[in-house]
Amino acid sequence: MEQITAGVVGYGYWGPNIVRNFSEIDSVALKYICDLNPEHLNRHKNRYPAVRFTPDYQELLDDKSLDAIAIATPVSSHYALAKQALLAGKHVLIAKPMCKSSSECEELVAIAEEMKLTLMVDHTFVYHGPVRLMKQLISAGELGDLLYLSSVRVNLGIFQSDVNVIWDLGAHDFSIMDYLLGNKMPTALHAIGKSHTDTNFEDVVFLTLEFEDNFIAHFHVSWLSPVKIRQMLIGGTQKMLMFDDHRPIEKVCLYDKGIELSKPPQTERERYRALIQYRNGDMRAPVYDLTEALKFETLHFIDCIKNNKTPITDGRSGLRVVRLLELADASIKSRTVLPVNVGR
Ligand SMILES: NC(=O)c1ccc[n+]([C@@H]2O[C@H](COP(=O)([O-])OP(=O)(O)OC[C@H]3O[C@@H](n4cnc5c(N)ncnc54)[C@H](O)[C@@H]3O)[C@@H](O)[C@H]2O)c1
Repeated sequence: MEQITAGVVGYGYWGPNIVRNFSEIDSVALKYICDLNPEHLNRHKNRYPAVRFTPDYQELLDDKSLDAIAIATPVSSHYALAKQALLAGKHVLIAKPMCKSSSECEELVAIAEEMKLTLMVDHTFVYHGPVRLMKQLISAGELGDLLYLSSVRVNLGIFQSDVNVIWDLGAHDFSIMDYLLGNKMPTALHAIGKSHTDTNFEDVVFLTLEFEDNFIAHFHVSWLSPVKIRQMLIGGTQKMLMFDDHRPIEKVCLYDKGIELSKPPQTERERYRALIQYRNGDMRAPVYDLTEALKFETLHFIDCIKNNKTPITDGRSGLRVVRLLELADASIKSRTVLPVNVGR
């Protein structure tokens, strides 16, 4: 298979980014751009003269020469479009979040496995240079044992018409966490959220995850913040990380800071002594790959198709993220802490 022939469905805000990246990859022949909205579809025709612009998705499904379809439509349509594509024998890249429900994700995962097709979720941040650097640092043991993750993703955001803020912004954080933590799995989830509009979609959510081994994670996502903050802190027994995606450079800072616990007190006198000593060492900002995340990701998608590899953000990781999003909704509604079993 020399070139992968690809089509993109959904040419609103995000679709053009996938189109641009596909069009820049030598091993991709971009054949279709599909959108139901003529205003969206009729943009950029001069930019892509070899591409067929069509409102008819069936054309893509019927084209035997088409290997792969990227779906960049609103989440409510992901399942139906992806299922049709897989059943037509196409490899699929789906925008985040993967589907509206975990049962839809499970079905897509099963079909892709049965049909031996690549099913990948566009969890773009997982392919972002600073996030890949954090993964390397954690995997190399630089942080020691992980203690906590704390994330803030807030701005005066675009209020979505079909999902709340945790499905919109939290999906990014859950995918980053899923990637960084590997086998470390949450066991309990508690979320509080409020809608401040006539819709029932929460625009501010605070969410906490507990893990088996005393690790804890917290997420604050909001469309109702006067300032844009994209910050994540990860604490370890050896070092601590700060990822600030709003900075133009040095987005990841590694701090040699932390605490050392002295031995438990043996005598009454020792009990009054401080048990905690502080380590206040250097900070360094390691370099990271500056490749555009979506370029790295689309290249990975093509590599997985060509070489039969499992994508980093495969259907199962998309499913784990959706399971957390569903539990977040359930916890907000029931005002309770819920047990978590996202599976592997
Ligand atoms: N990874 C990221 O950073 C990122 C950023 C933004 C959006 N997204 C995701 O991308 C997806 C699309 O978001 P958006 O902001 O581009 O939405 P959008 O509303 O701007 O665009 C969606 C487009 O899909 C078209 N469409 C809808 N149903 C269709 C169908 N059945 N067939 C063909 N076309 C159809 C619409 O006409 C519209 O042009 C969402 O899942 C969103 O979460 C991801």
